[in-house]
Amino acid sequence: MKKPVTTTLLCLLATLAGTQAWASGDARRGGDVFAEECGDCHSTAPGKNKKGPSLNGIANRKAGSLSDFPGYSDAMKQISFAWNPEKIDAYISQPKKVVAGGKMKYDGLGDPAARADVIAYLLSIK
Ligand code: HEC
Repeated sequence: MKKPVTTTLLCLLATLAGTQAWASGDARRGGDVFAEECGDCHSTAPGKNKKGPSLNGIANRKAGSLSDFPGYSDAMKQISFAWNPEKIDAYISQPKKVVAGGKMKYDGLGDPAARADVIAYLLSIK
C-alpha cells in the first residue's frame, strides 16, 4: 500500500525534526509490527497477560501498575511516570536505557517508522 505523498512528506519532516515522529504512524501497519515484534510477549486484549503485561489502554497508564500482572521487575514498579507516546518510543527503542534493571528481554526496535506505526496501533486500541 502506498501512502499519500503528503503523509510521507509529513513523516519525513517529523523524522528529520526528530520530534513526534509517532504522530504520523500508521495503525494498520503497526498491527503487523506488533504481531511480529511484541506479540510473543504482549496482547492488547484487556486482562490478557503473557510474558509481558497486557498493553490494552497503555496510553496514560502508570508504568508497572497492572495489579493482575505478577511479573514486573522492581525497577519497573519503582517508575513514577505514566506511558505516553514519547516514553513508549524511547522504551521500545532501548528498553534497558529507559528501565535500567528491567525485565523486558527485547533488544529494541531500531526503525523509527516501525516504532511510530506500532505506537499508533497501541493508541488505536480502545
Ligand atoms: C521477550 C518478551 C517481550 C517482548 C518481545 C516485548 N516485551 Fe514489552 N514487556 C515485557 C516484559 C516482561 C515487561 C515487564 C518489564 C519489567 O517489569 O521490567 C514488558 C513491559 C512493557 C511495557 C510497560 C507496561 C507496563 O504495564 O508498564 C510496554 C509499554 C511494553 N512492554 C511494550 C512493548 C512493545 C511495544 C513491544 C514490541 C515492540 C514489546 N514490549 C516487546 C516483555 C516483552
